[in-house]
Order: sequence, then structure tokens, then C-alpha cells
Amino acid sequence: MCGIVGYTGEKQALNILIDGLKKLEYRGYDSAGITVVNENLQNLKAKGKVKQLSDLSSQNPLTGNVGLGHTRWATHGVPNDINSHPHLSNDGKIALVHNGIIENYSELKEKLQSKGYIFHSETDTEVGVNLIDYYYKETKDTFKAIRKTINDIHGHFAFGVIFQEDKDAIYATRLQNPLVIGLGKGENFIASDFTPTISYTKDFYLLEEGEIAKVTKEKVFVLDEKDIEKQVVKYTVDWDIEAAEKGGYEHFMLKEIHEQPKAVLDTIKDNLNEQFLAEEVIKNANKIHIVACGSALHAGLVAKPIIEKLAKISTETYYASEFRYTNPLINKGDICIVISQSGETADTLAALRHAKKEGAIILSIVNVLGSTIDRESENTVYTKAGPEIAVATTKAYSAQLSLLYLIACRLGEVKQGLDKKELLEEIKSLPSKIEELLKSKDDILEYAKSFNYAKNLFIIGRGLDFAAAMEASLKLKELSYIHSEAYAAGELKHGTISLIEQGTPVLAIATQATAEKTISNLLETVSRGASPLIFTNKELNLDIDIKTFKLPTTNDMFMPSLTAIPLQFFSYYSAYIRDCDIDMPRNLAKSVTVE
Ligand code: F6R
Repeated sequence: MCGIVGYTGEKQALNILIDGLKKLEYRGYDSAGITVVNENLQNLKAKGKVKQLSDLSSQNPLTGNVGLGHTRWATHGVPNDINSHPHLSNDGKIALVHNGIIENYSELKEKLQSKGYIFHSETDTEVGVNLIDYYYKETKDTFKAIRKTINDIHGHFAFGVIFQEDKDAIYATRLQNPLVIGLGKGENFIASDFTPTISYTKDFYLLEEGEIAKVTKEKVFVLDEKDIEKQVVKYTVDWDIEAAEKGGYEHFMLKEIHEQPKAVLDTIKDNLNEQFLAEEVIKNANKIHIVACGSALHAGLVAKPIIEKLAKISTETYYASEFRYTNPLINKGDICIVISQSGETADTLAALRHAKKEGAIILSIVNVLGSTIDRESENTVYTKAGPEIAVATTKAYSAQLSLLYLIACRLGEVKQGLDKKELLEEIKSLPSKIEELLKSKDDILEYAKSFNYAKNLFIIGRGLDFAAAMEASLKLKELSYIHSEAYAAGELKHGTISLIEQGTPVLAIATQATAEKTISNLLETVSRGASPLIFTNKELNLDIDIKTFKLPTTNDMFMPSLTAIPLQFFSYYSAYIRDCDIDMPRNLAKSVTVE
């Protein structure tokens, strides 16, 4: 989603802002812009990539030591130069960048129009900046103007504001959308996350909801939501710039696929003896609710049967976006497992809040320490995947799976007296098996090439293989734009098999006790012309020759961790040979902060 970066210091702001926006590209966007402060607030905006903005800025180098940059992921109004941020107030004296949505913007716009304000764009942000201006003219006080504005707003936001009359400072505030303040020496920053400023500083202040910060090169001054001065507590990030760069790989995704042995190992190492929740909490829980979106949801679908098997506790995995609208039966003391790489996904956050309100105990799994979900959870455990830049998740998903296995074992131990020693040994063996699978990429490239004609594709499996198929299908769709469906293998013949034509690729995942049945279902599609490919760790007795990728073996419960690797390569190479934008697929954003 939108990305924000701001700089105030001794250096020229322009290049720092452009560089920062490049680091934020991974979040997904369709236009970009900057404001640099000189005598006036100077704006530069461009539809398309940051490269376009950068080319424009070399023809028109804005000078000044303070500025704001923004990548916009369109919500109100099409992507174009006018709708891009920063937006200026009617008199050109206030600039605003915004991540989020002002839901009541029409009503606020009418109010401002009645006071004589004119609007040039279709955005809610232009309403925001003119509202700040209106209150600034009324109060002559920057903090009060921002406070009154955010009090009027329904919705959620991260704001970066510059007032020409206080031009050494950047003001920042947030509600539900992330914003951090980078603490440098003689220079300070604001940003949507750590990546744009990590090469300048590893020290950050994590702005809390409703706080307003005034950031100058010497000082960061913060008011809490009651307008009382707040102490600026420093948080230091434990990774450096290399972690957020490609390191010789052609794409971040390829690098991140290769980082999976380490991501899984680090996650396991850190959490092997973790209790996750107090024993009493686990003993008293009668139900587990898992909420997440996208790939994190698929990790939750893998966890459900494993928890039910090991802990014998009823477990439900829900689309976070549906959770609070479907009246889930939540009882006090139920456990709600919230899974999110970014820790900022709006639907997941809303589901967390709903579960909390209904009395559930929250256990969140996040990759980004200090993210909103982390901060709002009474219990958080961290995947140790490091920064994930490619929009499509790989290493964070694998780390989530390994953490969920550990949680399932712990729940089983407390609820059922499970002796988890052997299972833990098996979990510890996963990183080396994943490492081994990384060598398979050339074989998978050949499979991907053999299906280069495909417009529709099916991935089938049963039980945990079906959950793995769902993840594989999502990856393939988002990266290669091939229409793909994951199907419970036994369900195909109840209707969907009618879509199978001569050459339709059908991939079967067969790693569970049900493998033979899945293969029978695959053969039913082959009889109707399908072009099959099997991923299995079993010895199958096939009468016909079918291309088969042989997976290593582990406990059946943990097979989704191994199945994921060749299928990630399959998506990667399917996208590669179609020349797709692998790290930033069209229409997608890394951190989905709108519902
Ligand atoms: C798919 C993908 C998305 C995310 C989803 C949730 O490759 O990356 O489906 O898994 O948007 O994001 P987080 O985990 O940040 O809540």
C-alpha cells in the first residue's frame, strides 16, 4: 500500500527521498511524488514508477533540506499526476502525504467547499490537507490544527505534514496505519517502515496511535493522544541494509526463497522451548480460532488439523475479512491465533480486535516487531524471517508454518500430555530438507516451460495437501497471472471436472496417507485430456508415465513445509518465462492496510 518517507537534516532532501521511495516500492503503488521545502513548498509528481519521478527530478532538481515523499496505491481516484501525493492546501502552504482512507471525506469536502475551498483532485487526501489548513488558520497552532483534523476524520491514516510557516519540521501522526520515526545524528526521518532509512539509522521511535510528533533535525517532540508530552523511547532494529537488498539475485523473491532454510532455522531456534501461552490459559481453552489473510491464512489452514490431532481441541481457521461478519461463536477464554507477516493487515487487525472484545486470548504470529498487530496483542511470537521485500510471501510463510507446528506441539503437550520430543526433532530437520530442495530449481524451470501455453491450471490434493495446493495456487495466480484453482481432489468430479480439456495442466500434491486416492482423482482428469504433474514423497504404482517430482520425507504433518519449495519455484519460473513483474505483481500491495 502507500509508502511514506520524510527527511529533515543538513543534506539535500531530494535524493534521500527518491532513494527512500525506491526502498518502499515493494509495498505496491501506481504513482509517486515529493515535496521539498525551499522558499515555498515545491512539488513533483509522476504516474507510474519511482524511476519516472527520478527522471523528472533530474530535469528539475528541487533543492532544500526538508521534504516528504510518497508512493500512492490508488483508493480514491485513478492513478495520475493530479491524484498523486503530496497534496497542497489551496494556498500552497501546507503539504500532506497520507496512507489510509478518510471514510467521511465527502461530508468534510462539502463543509470545506461551503467555506470557499476548491478541490482539484478526486482524493480524500486533498480534503485532509485543506482541513488542516482550515484549522491552522483558526488556531494558528500546528499541533491543534492536526489534532482537530484527526478528530474530525472517520477512517484510518498515517500522515506526514509540512507547514511552510514551520518549514524545518515534519509533523507525523497515525491511526491504524504504520509510521515510524528514524532517529539520526543531526537528521531525522519519518517512514512507513524501517527499510527506507535503515542505511542512515537503525534507531527508531515507533509512533503510537493518536500521537502527534514534530520532527526537526535536532529533536523529536511527541504529544500523546491526550496532548501530553511523551518520552521518546528508542527501539533499535537488529538487521541491516543487506537484508533489504537483492544480494546478487535477479529478484527479491528468488533471494527470499533461498533464505528459507535460515528463516525456518532461526524461527525454530528462537521458539523451541517457548511456552507461547500460560499453562492455565491453554488448559482452560475450549476452542481455537485462527484468523489471517492470503498465504498467512493458508498457514492457518495447515495448522487446524495438526492442532486438532495433537491437542484434540476444536480449531477453526477463518478468512480475517469475514470473521467479524459471520458471528463466530467465541467464548471467554478461547484462544485466537492471529497470523500476519507485516503485522499491519487491516482485516487481520480488525479480526484480532473483534476476538479480543469477545473475550478471546490473543496469540499473534508476526514478522515485524513493533507492528500494530504486535502492539495490540497480549501475546506475540515472532517469525524470524527478516525483512521480506517481494510482494509474494515465501520465507515468512515457511517461518509461520514452523512456528505453528511448535505451537501445536505445545498445545498437545498441555492438553493431552503429548511427548513432543520426536516431533521436535523432526521439525528441527526441516531446514536441511528445505536446503536440499533448493537444488531442484532447474527441474522445476523445465516443468514450468512445459506448461508455458497454459491459461488455466488446477492444483489438487487432499487434507494438508489441499491446504498446500491453495497456497501454491495463490502464488501462481499472483505472480504469473495464470488462472489457477486449488481443488480438494475428491471434489473435482462433482462439477469442476467439466473444465478439463485437452492439455489442461493438473498438478497433484500427494504426500499424505490419502496419496493413492488423490492420484486416482488425477487419473480421472488424465482420461479427459489433462496434462498431469505429480509432487509426492510416496512410492506410487502408476500404469502410465506421469512427470513426477520426488519430495523428501518427513512426518506427514510437516510435509506442507517441503511441498511449498518446488511449488514456489514453479510460480516463480512460470512468471519468469511470461516476463511478469515478479517482485511487484500488478495491482498488489505488500502490506494491505485497507479493509
Ligand atoms: C501472498 C501474500 C499475501 C499475504 C496477505 C497477508 O503471497 O503475500 O496473500 O499473505 O496479504 O499479509 P500479512 O501476512 O502481512 O498479514
